[in-house]
Amino acid sequence: MCGIVAYLGHKPAWPILIKGLQRLEYRGYDSAGIALMHQNRLQVLKKKGKVDDLARAAQNYPTDGSQGIGHTRWATHGPPDDINAHPHTSGNQRLALVHNGIIENYALLKKALEKEGHVFQGQTDTEVLVHFIEELQHREQWPLEEAVRVALTRITGAYAIVVMDRDDPGKLVAARKASPLVIGVGNGEYFIASDATPIVEHTKRVIYLNDGEIATVSLRDNLQIRTMNNEVQTPYIHELDMEIEQLEKGGYEHFMLKEIYEQPTTVADCMRGRLNVEQGWVRLGGLDDHLARVAQARRIIIAACGTSWHAGLIGEYLIEDLARIPVEVEYASELRYRNPILNEEDVVIAISQSGETADTLAAVELARERGSLVYGIVNVVGSSIARLTHCGSYIHCGPEIGVASTKAFTGQVTLLSLMALVLAHRRGVLAESDFRRLLLELSEIPGKIAQVLEANAQIAYIAGEIKDRTNAIYLGRGYNFPVALEGALKLKEISYIHAEGYPAAEMKHGPIALIDENMPVIVIATNKSAYDKIVSNIQEVKARKGMVIAVVEQGDEVISQLADYTIEIPPTEEPFTPLLSVIPLQLLSYHIAVMRDCNVDQPRNLAKSVTVE
Ligand code: M6R
Repeated sequence: MCGIVAYLGHKPAWPILIKGLQRLEYRGYDSAGIALMHQNRLQVLKKKGKVDDLARAAQNYPTDGSQGIGHTRWATHGPPDDINAHPHTSGNQRLALVHNGIIENYALLKKALEKEGHVFQGQTDTEVLVHFIEELQHREQWPLEEAVRVALTRITGAYAIVVMDRDDPGKLVAARKASPLVIGVGNGEYFIASDATPIVEHTKRVIYLNDGEIATVSLRDNLQIRTMNNEVQTPYIHELDMEIEQLEKGGYEHFMLKEIYEQPTTVADCMRGRLNVEQGWVRLGGLDDHLARVAQARRIIIAACGTSWHAGLIGEYLIEDLARIPVEVEYASELRYRNPILNEEDVVIAISQSGETADTLAAVELARERGSLVYGIVNVVGSSIARLTHCGSYIHCGPEIGVASTKAFTGQVTLLSLMALVLAHRRGVLAESDFRRLLLELSEIPGKIAQVLEANAQIAYIAGEIKDRTNAIYLGRGYNFPVALEGALKLKEISYIHAEGYPAAEMKHGPIALIDENMPVIVIATNKSAYDKIVSNIQEVKARKGMVIAVVEQGDEVISQLADYTIEIPPTEEPFTPLLSVIPLQLLSYHIAVMRDCNVDQPRNLAKSVTVE
């Protein structure tokens, strides 16, 4: 969703801000803008469209100054146009502000401000906020940081903001509530951004602003952080564990393809130091202090959205199957609003790649309020969910830039596999020989993912055969049912082909009506336990002239006779099948999207981290 980048220092701000906005493009946006401060003048350039459009449009304007704020906007209030694009300025053209989030009481405030004579150019809630700060500054003669602080105590909603004042140069004021902000501390210079990606090439020293904090960075007085109640906070500087190469395509045509190909490494990274086959142990540092409570939980509730929710469904199969603890998987957006029965006997696992998804964050808050232990499975280090949960584990996949989640999914499933094994061992519900066999098999998954990737050319060929279809059905059973859902989501989001995932046996209860010669049916048919049943499901599709693309285990001779196309994956233990069977589906969606000329890394209407409800 929206992205913020700001700079204060001694270098030209424009190139730093443009590059920073490009780094934030992956979050999804529809307009971009920059405000620069130079010799007590404020210059605002903003434009509907891409950052490149903004850079081109700026060629005829001065872009001097070593202080500025930039923004990529994902429209919520008001259409994506030049006027609603950020930064927004105050009526007196003294203040410029960028904002992520939603100001919920903006309509009331707007009315009150209009009565005071404020005139608004666009429809955004953000413009109301900057006028409100202006009003307080004017009325009370407060310095910028005080006007911002008081304004924020009177608004409801979520925000990350950065503001600058033409009459108070050399200073940026930033604040956050439920929307992330990171401050990079350089040599006599500061960077502020929604995440670390625009900062890492300048400095690795960062401060994660906490909820309800306001930071003032100043070339005169350095950095000060206060709470909304004006209490001074001592900032903690973290060292970023991120390399600039991770933010580049590294020779691949798209980030998504790069991230698909990274999976042998990222899955291995997720297991590193957590599993030892020779000595027969598996451990998750984040679980150590809470192991007894989690192992004795009355039930585990997994809360997540989108792809992370699909990983959660696989977690349900894994934890129930191996550790024998009841698990429920909830859409975070539903859990938060339906007065769920949650208490201290429950453990809630929140799964999120970004660690910033608003609904998942709200579910975490709710679970904490009800006394449940909350465990986070998160990719982005230092993100809000990582910090709000009682304990948790990072999946260590590195930055995921493609909007369609791929390596984070396999990282989440790997982590859940480790967790299921830890819990199974602790509860003594798995025979030692089975435990050791599963450990060995899990350790071999990265190599097997590499083998699946070798089918890329064949999968590209199959993509060519179905690229012009308008619908697709994905079927799977057991551990592969969530994979079917994930395959369908991947196809929908990047190729805009309508697709649905179903448990294979459910097909005859309705979706079978859709099957004819125009319907590709992608069947994940690697299950050992329900093999005959899935063969019957394939026969049902073929009897109705559907085109079957089956993902099968190497050496399968039965399904290859029935299906139009088969893609082979190496054999593995059934609980780990999703880590292999999802790979061909990721590649299939990728190639179809490329063939349909879609914007693979930044699909229309989508945001990488959904920080609004
Ligand atoms: O960052 P999160 O894992 O919390 O994000 C959840 C979903 O928004 C995300 O998985 C979304 O469904 C992806 N676009 C899927 O590819």
